Formats: sequence, structure tokens, C-alpha cells
Amino acid sequence: MNNKFAQLEEKIAEAKLGGGKDRIEAQHKKKKLTARERLHFLMDEGSFEEIGMLVKHRSKNFGLDKQQFLGDGVVTGYGTINGRLVYVYAQDFTVLGGSLAAAHSEKICRIMDLAMKNGAPVIGLNDSGGARIQEGVVSLAAYANIFYKNTLASGVVPQISAIMGPCAGGAVYSPALTDFIMMVENNSYMYVTGPNVVKTVTHENVTHEELGGAMTHATKSGVTHFTFPNGIECIKGIKTLLSYLPQNCEDAPPSLPYEGGNEVRPLLDNIIPENPNQPYDIKEVIDGVIDELTFFEVHKNYGENMVVGFGRLAGKSIGIVANQPAVLAGVLDIHASQKAARFVRFCDCFNIPLLVFEDVPGFLPGTDQEWNGIITNGAKLLFAFCEATVPRITVITRKAYGGAYDVMNSKHIGADMNYAWPTAEIAVMGAKGAAEIIFKNEIQKAKNPQATIKEKEKEYAEMFANPYRAAARGYVDEVIKPHQTREKLIKAYKMLENKAEKLPKKKHGNIPL
Ligand code: HXC
Repeated sequence: MNNKFAQLEEKIAEAKLGGGKDRIEAQHKKKKLTARERLHFLMDEGSFEEIGMLVKHRSKNFGLDKQQFLGDGVVTGYGTINGRLVYVYAQDFTVLGGSLAAAHSEKICRIMDLAMKNGAPVIGLNDSGGARIQEGVVSLAAYANIFYKNTLASGVVPQISAIMGPCAGGAVYSPALTDFIMMVENNSYMYVTGPNVVKTVTHENVTHEELGGAMTHATKSGVTHFTFPNGIECIKGIKTLLSYLPQNCEDAPPSLPYEGGNEVRPLLDNIIPENPNQPYDIKEVIDGVIDELTFFEVHKNYGENMVVGFGRLAGKSIGIVANQPAVLAGVLDIHASQKAARFVRFCDCFNIPLLVFEDVPGFLPGTDQEWNGIITNGAKLLFAFCEATVPRITVITRKAYGGAYDVMNSKHIGADMNYAWPTAEIAVMGAKGAAEIIFKNEIQKAKNPQATIKEKEKEYAEMFANPYRAAARGYVDEVIKPHQTREKLIKAYKMLENKAEKLPKKKHGNIPL
């Protein structure tokens, strides 16, 4: 009997050693943790239960039969994070470069099946050279099996992908199908084809970092939602993100105990500048309204004229979407629309109420935007809001112009409550442009056209550069002073707590992708 126990212990020790001491050392030299070390920091102490530790690949190609590693390069299992169940996989770069083929994929698919059946998030810690080259088409099939599961799980349970090393080839598409991507700065990259292929095909000379590093995807492509300076910070980021999310699409988002008492926030009254064309930072408004220090920004460095992220209001999770007047005057463009649309969709999947702060001068004009599809991309945001059935509230802080007024969660497209500050301006367009169009003849005939423009501009502004026309129609439910905003929102979300809205029966809508 003792021999049999010893044999088991040997196997466990072998599995825990992954690709061996040398490879673990090489991993550390690259300032990367191993798969098991990452899990140690991610999971509540003693909570991780491994599944499939003794799985091996079945391939004999190119000497693979002599390269057998227990676990096949991925550690999979379940456990808790801050007491809540999660399913997790961590790729082990020390085993065949974390490359993926049939057995490795089967292990990941297994925990995804469990996650869907039991309603808990899936977290993937990615560190892999991609499809295991020796296994050929089998490894392509293995990836496709994961993509299929990712898609089935989408909207059922939250899926989070941390990229903690290379992520090349088809490997990028599993993360891309999940809800959030997090990348480690200077130590992870994602691309469909690496620098060598790029050089051959397009003759471009580009480094790994330039082509697919964390900052590239945070600023240029928008592929990653978050970046972190190192693996440990990335793991902390996963925990923070999870703290805002429900376990699955039928669960309510987490609610922290809240005693209240600081609902009136006088500092909010001083944020909007006297001059309506002067910028201000919408994050001051967000921080001023929600529970202190709870804003967790998503896509911080991408499409910065739009701000999105999670926060808490009276302890409850909310999703915040806000125009940023400090960047491009808060205009709606392609990137801002895509970013906000994706975030709205996520919140709606997972019952997270939406709060919109609106200060938008309109859509960005120009050939660049038109030729690259601002129509289709702006429509994504419009569609996402129209279809969202979670509680939805808008606060118009200043400008709400043109089509952007409709798009930014107006009551006409299903928002539940719409508040405006006294500084709000709700109109088809800015007063100057409007005056030049509707008083064109008068201006042309005037002795002093400039003076006439000014006079007509003032006339138009007096009529529309305020919230009262919209309030008179009931498009705005209440005009409130900024310091009242928090109190009003807490009450309104409480009132909307049991909101139940059903969309017309259909197979699925056809969002303009
Ligand atoms: C098999 C792999 C591998 C792979 C790495 N290894 N990638 N083995 N299949 N895809 C092995 C290496 O041979 C090496 O083994 C060990 O892992 C460590 O790799 P190194 O190259 O020494 O590490 P490093 O210098 O850090 O470079 C990492 C890397 C590089 C940039 C990821 O290994 C690399 O370029 N790998 C290939 C990437 C790739 O083209 N993947 C296929 C993409 S196609 P030894 O024994 O020497 O230590 C794809 C299609 C999927 O994914 C399509 C689905 C739709």
C-alpha cells in the first residue's frame, strides 16, 4: 500500500514541477511567475482544487512521445476569490512553451463546462506560444473547441483573460471572445502574426512590443481593457474587477454594506466652468457622485473622449458611461462609440445598472470618421443602449447636442430617468452654427452681419441652451443642482431595483457589427 501512496506522491510532485527546475528558473529570469505561483496569489489560501493534474497528451509526432509532462502545460481547477467561486486555468510556459493541443484544450473546456453549469466566472491566465506546432491540425481543432465554448459562455458567466506572456496566432482569439482582457506591461504581447511574418509580408520592421505589447493594445487597438506594471498587480486587478461582477447572468451584482450619510456633495456645484466651451474633467464628477474611491476605469487609455468603468453607489455595483469634455470636447467618434457600446453590452448581460453622465457636443465630423464608418460604429452604441434592459439613468451635466443627445441614453431610447443640471444645454446644435443656418438670409442682408450673427446666436442660446425646453416636454424628469445628484440617484436606483423589462421575442438582434 505504501508503495502505491508513494507512487501517487511522486506523480503529484512531478506534475507540480511542470517543465522542470531549469525552465522555472528561465521563467523567473524573464520576470514572470509560473502558472502555480500565479494561482497561489490569485486564489483564496487553500481554496484551489486542481482538476486534471495527471492528464497527458497522446501525440507521437516529432518526438513528442518523449516529451510527456503531467498536466500538459495547463493547470486547471476551481476555488474561491474573496470567498466567491471561480473556475480558472493557468498556462504553464515551462511545459512546451505553454503551447496548446488536444489534451491542454480538453482541460480548459472541462472547466468552462463546469463554470456554465454552476454559474461562476472563468479566469484564464494566458502564457503560451500558441498552437502546439508538432500536433498540426489537432491543435487548430483544439483552439476552435475553446472558441466555441467561449462563445457559448458569453453572457452566461463573466470571462476574464489575463495575458501574462506571449499570446500568438490563434491564441489571441480566445481572449478576444471573453469579456475583459488584462495585459502585463513589457512582458506580454498579443498578435495574429509576429514580427518575423510581418517583416516578410509587409516589409515593416517592428518589435514585439510595438506590434502587440500592452501599451499598443491599450492605446492603439483597444484590444486590452487594462494594463498592469507586473503580474502581481494584474492578479490584484482581476480580484478588483470581480468585486463588481455578479457570478452569472441570473445573479445580482454584489452589494456592499452601506450606511449612508454623505449623500449631499457640495463640491459638485463648483465643477462646471462659467464658460460653456471650457473643458473640465468628468472623472471629478464621477468621483464626486459615487462612493468614495470606488471608480474602476475600463479602457483608460483608449478613446479617452469617453470614460467607462465600474463604481459603487450606496454599496451597489453600477456601470458608468461618461463623455469626457477634457478630451476632444467629449465628442462622439468611432473609438468612443465602440468602447462605450461594448461596455454597455457587458453591463446589460450581467444585470449591472447603467449611469450615464452626458456632456457631448455631437458626433465628430470629417472624412476620416465618415470613411471609417462612424455611421456603423455610432449605431453600435445606439443599439447597445436601445437594447439594454437594466436600470438606466442619465445625468446631463452640460451639452447634449444633436444625434448624440439621442444616443447617450436618452429617455426616448429607454432610459428610466433623465436628470439635468441647470448648466445643461439640450439642442439640435450649438447656438452659433444654428443661428448661421436658420437666419442665413437675415445675416446676408444685414448691414453688420457679424453683429447679427451674435444677436441671433444669443436668441437661439436663450431659447435652447438650457434644460427647460426638454423638461417642459418631460424628456428630462427633473432639473437638479449638482450637489443633489448622489441622493437623487441612490433613490432612483432603489426605485428601479425590481425593474423587469422584456424585449420582443426573437432569435437575437442584429447589432451593426
Ligand atoms: C510547440 C513551442 C511553441 C509552439 C514555443 N514552444 N512555442 N512548442 N509549439 N507553438 C517551445 C519552444 O520550442 C521551446 O522549447 C519552449 O517552448 C520555449 O520557447 P522559446 O522560444 O525558447 O521561448 P521565448 O524565447 O520566450 O519565445 C517565446 C515565443 C516563441 C515568442 C512564443 O517560442 C515562438 O515564437 N513560438 C512560436 C509561436 C507561434 O508561431 N505559434 C503558433 C501560432 S499559430 P525548448 O524545448 O527549446 O525549451 C496558431 C494557430 C492557431 O496559434 C490557430 C487557431 C485559430
